[in-house]
Amino acid sequence: MRDFLTELLTAYWFAPPVALWRAVELRTATKEMYRHPLLDLGCGDGLVAQALFGPAQVDVGLDPWAAQVRQAARSGVYRRVQQADGHRLPYPDGAFATVFSNSVLEHIPDVAPVVREVGRVLTPPDPGRGEPGGRFIFTVPSDAFRRLLHFYQARRAMGDEEGAERYAAEMDQWLVHHHYHTPQEWADLLAEGGMVLEKARYYIPEPVEHLWDRMNRRFGLGRRSLWGLLASPRLRGLGHQRLLARWVVHRFSRAWRPYYEMDVPPGEVGGGLLVVGRRAH
Ligand SMILES: C[S@@+](CC[C@H](N)C(=O)[O-])C[C@H]1O[C@@H](n2cnc3c(N)ncnc32)[C@H](O)[C@@H]1O
Repeated sequence: MRDFLTELLTAYWFAPPVALWRAVELRTATKEMYRHPLLDLGCGDGLVAQALFGPAQVDVGLDPWAAQVRQAARSGVYRRVQQADGHRLPYPDGAFATVFSNSVLEHIPDVAPVVREVGRVLTPPDPGRGEPGGRFIFTVPSDAFRRLLHFYQARRAMGDEEGAERYAAEMDQWLVHHHYHTPQEWADLLAEGGMVLEKARYYIPEPVEHLWDRMNRRFGLGRRSLWGLLASPRLRGLGHQRLLARWVVHRFSRAWRPYYEMDVPPGEVGGGLLVVGRRAH
């Protein structure tokens, strides 16, 4: 089994809670099969695909953000990188056997047209050859994300419903999350795009989301903090950052291991949701 926790703490040492969330995410995503041609929709800088697929293993990376596209091109993960928007994919019908999208759809306010575009570019099933349709594999924060936040629950436990709601709204704003669909709502959106829901699997169990929420505060993520200053990209290359990076990897790859390895108990929900849709016709 790959050790995504150590790999991601090494890559995201400047934001350790991000590494924790992403490591659990990749431990979940790595269980899926990714047939080629493979499109990474909203690929960002390519760090996540690098950890999941390795060098030159993804056919196309696509992102609307120019700076991210440049970094993705340098990452060596993609055979081709394109700057484009998910609302209008510059590919012919049926071009991909798999579309992968990690932590992207929650940032798109009107997501239905993007899901329809994905359905269009996936390969249709070929009953003559016994070939199933292409698959859309994506991760998003789940419908339980807000209520599993540590500080949301702490405020509610004190009877402060309004404070809890305000806290969750601040998190939505900081993380630029526009929606948290249920598995059934994703099934409906997939159906509009000619796909059927094959799987919806929760990850990030409650104790992991609690830790993640507390650690965001400890590291001062999302606000001005001493950590933010020490880890600032403007100070990259200075000797202290190498020491900080080493400390983060050493300390948290041990301390957070039990959380990294934790699964959502059967019948319960988690803060993350992995969804698999399959093109039906
Ligand atoms: C949180 S980042 C995730 C990046 C990468 N998938 C990862 O896991 O590290 C969200 C990405 O979605 C991209 N994105 C936002 N709106 C998009 C859209 N309409 N179509 C495609 N990508 C979009 C952003 O540019 C950004 O790179």
